[in-house]
Amino acid sequence: MSTVKKDYKRITTRSLVEMKSNGEKISMVTAYDYTMAQMVDKAGVDVILVGDSASNVMAGHETTLPITLDQMIYHASSVVRGAKRSLVVVDLPFGSYQSDPKEALRSAIRIMKESGGHSIKLEGGSEIKDSIKKILNAGIPVMGHLGLTPQSIYKFGTYTVRAKEEEEAQKLIKDALFLQKAGCFAVVLEKVPAKLAQQVAQQLTIPVIGIGAGKVDGQVLVVNDLLGMTHEFNPRFLRRYLNLHELITNAVGQYVSDVKEEDFPNENEQY
Ligand code: KIV
Repeated sequence: MSTVKKDYKRITTRSLVEMKSNGEKISMVTAYDYTMAQMVDKAGVDVILVGDSASNVMAGHETTLPITLDQMIYHASSVVRGAKRSLVVVDLPFGSYQSDPKEALRSAIRIMKESGGHSIKLEGGSEIKDSIKKILNAGIPVMGHLGLTPQSIYKFGTYTVRAKEEEEAQKLIKDALFLQKAGCFAVVLEKVPAKLAQQVAQQLTIPVIGIGAGKVDGQVLVVNDLLGMTHEFNPRFLRRYLNLHELITNAVGQYVSDVKEEDFPNENEQY
């Protein structure tokens, strides 16, 4: 069971920074729809990430690149309606913030206005510093994301662990410090060595939330992976808490057979 140090009625960006200073770990999972958001919120998750991983797990794309701003807004507005306590963070999708700071701000404003989300997340460090500052200056909270940044998969060419070499590790530390100084409220570190992630978490006062980054200030997983709805994705960092793929396939299989055998509906299941 998790160690809760303070009972928050509604999680804010400030609560997360407070949790870090109180030594309380932060739980974060993705959700993309109203029903799932209701369940993970009720389970007590601190942050719901409307991740651009929706592109993979909801739409079946190979990468996160195809999802559009309109599609992210659709998913996010559904999640917001289901989240009563959790902080809702929404990914800015690929192509909506990299070209120039004005476009980045326009995209972030659309997310906040049209979905009702509480903050945005974007991938990258100093190379997009003007966009990050512009969004923050408009009063929009920003969560950073460093390490394996899936929107750059075609640059990396592989989903293997990032920042194993000294030069990339040093850049990551510099970028994390930049994100904190710029005013970001948290940083996600994806698939980097645990020792490096720990070093970053110790240097920052804002929370570092890891996925495949060892024990830091919090953890994030894609909910479809955590629940075993996906079954072909098996990275070392993933802990599956259910095998919903099998449970759902078997349950629906039973329904199909009940229909075929005219067992469903029975006398009590009709008017
Ligand atoms: O889109 C996503 O689900 C993410 C998490 C993996 C951090 O960015």
